[in-house]
Amino acid sequence: MTDTADAGAGPSAAIELHAIRKSYGIGKDQIVRAADDVSLRIDAGTFVALTGASGSGKSTLLHLIGAIERPDSGTIRTGGTDVTALRGPALAAYRRTVGFVFQRYHLLPALTALDNVIAPVLPYRTSFNKKERGRQLLSAVGLAGREQSLPAKMSGGEQQRVAIARALINTPALLLADEPTGNLDSANATEILQLIAGLRREHTMTIILATHDPQVAAHCERMIRLRDGAIVDDIDLTEGYPVEEMVRRVGQLG
Ligand SMILES: Nc1ncnc2c1ncn2[C@@H]1O[C@H](COP(=O)(O)OP(=O)(O)OP(=O)(O)O)[C@@H](O)[C@H]1O
Ligand SMILES: [Mg+2]
Repeated sequence: MTDTADAGAGPSAAIELHAIRKSYGIGKDQIVRAADDVSLRIDAGTFVALTGASGSGKSTLLHLIGAIERPDSGTIRTGGTDVTALRGPALAAYRRTVGFVFQRYHLLPALTALDNVIAPVLPYRTSFNKKERGRQLLSAVGLAGREQSLPAKMSGGEQQRVAIARALINTPALLLADEPTGNLDSANATEILQLIAGLRREHTMTIILATHDPQVAAHCERMIRLRDGAIVDDIDLTEGYPVEEMVRRVGQLG
């Protein structure tokens, strides 16, 4: 089944990071430690917020977990698979089991909403009818009837809904969302977060959401805060953690 888009899709995935390091060279003889000895375990089905100031390493960690980038050292296991050991077709198959949502939607401007949603699976055989699943997902994100709309004719919140539907086309075990509400006003941001939380209940996914906004993190079950690529806080939010304390901790400077 490796040449289909369904490979590996299934129930939500547990994630284990062990001693992850990633540095980038910036200028002559200078490096920045974007991930600095990060170890953590995320239980399957958890909704986790990754917080921290700009440059603290949130996107880097998402890219490493989604295997868009490879760590310099350390291991990452998701759903029991050693992601860091994957190469070639196995790596491509793994990436297809991960849903990505970005801050700037990344929709293809020449394609309709429906075609954007099904674009990731177009080259592959699927066990489902692509257009039918695409329509169902657009309906699930509140965009029934907008299948033929072009991105330029949609609001920011609507475009982000299309991007979320697209991320779900493969029934991902893991959804990685990088500042998904960063370009939206607070009413639209709240709607998108409620949408993501509702979809998780239906699809039993593990979700990791990067945000610098404590109000956004408050929608999650656990908040992991980074500073200079390292974990400085790991807080269980299911016990009714006070939002004021989160705001204080996340702060403007992380
Ligand atoms: N491709 C790259 N080349 C060089 N440096 C990079 C690269 N990607 C990230 N960095 C650096 O790694 C560090 C972590 O960056 P990262 O994008 O992960 O932070 P972030 O927490 O997502 O920030 P933001 O909130 O601004 O999105 C920063 O110092 C950044 O400049
Ligand atoms: Mg980022």
